[in-house]
Amino acid sequence: MIRRGDAASGDLLSGLPHAGAAVETLADGAMVLRRFAEPAAEELVKAIHRLAAAAPFRHMVTPGGHAMSLATTNCGRLGWVTDRAGYRYEQIDPLTRRPWPSLPDVFHRLATRAAAAGGFAGFEPDACLINRYEPGARLSMHQDRNERDFGAPIVSVSLGLPAVFLFGGARRADRPRRVRLESGDVVVWGGPARLAFHGIEPLADGHHPLTGHHRINLTFRKAG
Ligand code: SIN
Ligand code: FE2
Repeated sequence: MIRRGDAASGDLLSGLPHAGAAVETLADGAMVLRRFAEPAAEELVKAIHRLAAAAPFRHMVTPGGHAMSLATTNCGRLGWVTDRAGYRYEQIDPLTRRPWPSLPDVFHRLATRAAAAGGFAGFEPDACLINRYEPGARLSMHQDRNERDFGAPIVSVSLGLPAVFLFGGARRADRPRRVRLESGDVVVWGGPARLAFHGIEPLADGHHPLTGHHRINLTFRKAG
């Protein structure tokens, strides 16, 4: 289903309707809000540079001992981390030993508006995972299940180079849909789709005016 000029979308900076926005349904409770974040994209990338100066991108290690191909940092009250001890949320960045930087206003505004546009009014994210992909980096199929409350949706914002997002079902064996995500696209999944398996195919090489040779993904969650 595609609705052009969905009234629920809004220009993030001016409050005016964002005429380019369209909604594509992936599953019951899951959708892509095409270009929803486009009006704020430059401001988001500037904020990411500031955040990364305080909490640097790093290649975290999985419980199995493999360094992830993507580089990660966080902002918000809680940050998602992985190391040999497992996946979890932490209030303190294990690299800097300081609290994660707080969620910038532009992040909060975007996440709550996107959730509402996707049918999840009242979303209050307390965690934002920032993933940076370089060409070849990928994210294997997984569920987001380290959060306490599966009642809140996941809001995922794509910036920079395009990627192929794989969106499956509640079982790992469910064949995923392949969805091309471009800069400014926002994926929202919750309700019956909250525990859907998803991943990112190896990033193709390219150059994007916003991010150079990178794709950056912001994943907003209510973790605590
Ligand atoms: C994630 O599943 O945490 C990130 C997905 C993406 O990079 O689009
Ligand atoms: Fe995920």
